[in-house]
Amino acid sequence: MKINGKTRTCGLVGNPVEHTMSPMIHNTLAEELGMNMVYVPFLVEDAVDTAVKGAYALNLLGMNVTVPYKSEVMKSLAECDELAEKIGAVNTLVRVNGGYKGYNTDITGLYRAMSSYGIVLEHQNVIILGAGGAARAVAFLCVYHGAKQVYLLNRSVEKAQEVAAEVNRVMDRECIIPMSLKDYVCLPEEKMLCIQATSVGLSPNDSEVVIEDTEFYKKIHTGYDLIYRPANTRFMQLVKQQGGKAYHGLKMLLYQGIEAFELWNEVKIDDELSNKVYEIMKGEMNIEE
Ligand code: ATR
Repeated sequence: MKINGKTRTCGLVGNPVEHTMSPMIHNTLAEELGMNMVYVPFLVEDAVDTAVKGAYALNLLGMNVTVPYKSEVMKSLAECDELAEKIGAVNTLVRVNGGYKGYNTDITGLYRAMSSYGIVLEHQNVIILGAGGAARAVAFLCVYHGAKQVYLLNRSVEKAQEVAAEVNRVMDRECIIPMSLKDYVCLPEEKMLCIQATSVGLSPNDSEVVIEDTEFYKKIHTGYDLIYRPANTRFMQLVKQQGGKAYHGLKMLLYQGIEAFELWNEVKIDDELSNKVYEIMKGEMNIEE
């Protein structure tokens, strides 16, 4: 990588930032495409608004934003993408006149990852497990892309009800049905897509899963787990045992990066280059599939 007077800088704002794979993703893309851009981590301990102002003053091309600033940073934006605004969280800032425009490529990246596996949301009934920040964003995505009915199952049903009420109100459609996790037996008798959006099963708790009963997994034709560590979660194993297809969340991470890179550089990354970066990611994670 040659750095000179024309090099553009992008970076990751968050706390912590030490374990991120984003510099590898973006610097590989820049190098492969011969683009004069570098991507570095920026540890921001507080005052993310000052960081955004500073970034603009320093002529940074764009930024990713991670925990704990994905919502807080929205106050510092010049503009915001429609879906990101509805979700209430951004992870990508793109330089525009007078500041930055916010996007949520976590969620558009999830959509692209699912599409790459042939998963469809349009006119589908979907099960979402969880009602935390990730599940909430997934619920918005499902409605945004025309899912028919979304069953949102959570341990604490109050939280599922809150998320459902908010998504239904913002999207102006009674599409999300909140349920308690233990009421999974009441789900309709049909096979559906199920997106696992809780933190249960995340390494080192590999053997954990939100629902143990194999009967539940008979209702799933495809399972997508947002977790990628481990790469074959207990949720995925149970889906596959009942004949369904199951995928981990590493491609979501890949595509959130690719979509950010495309926004900053106004390019389109083809499948060949996407796969090349994905292979490196899998290598770093010791994942085979
Ligand atoms: P994130 O931002 O990653 O979504 P979060 O907002 O902390 O994280 O949400 C964690 C999700 O995992 C919640 O849906 C949580 O359920 P509760 O709302 O009932 O707490 C779910 N979760 C965490 N541990 C769980 C467990 N042992 N069993 C069932 N669900 C669990």
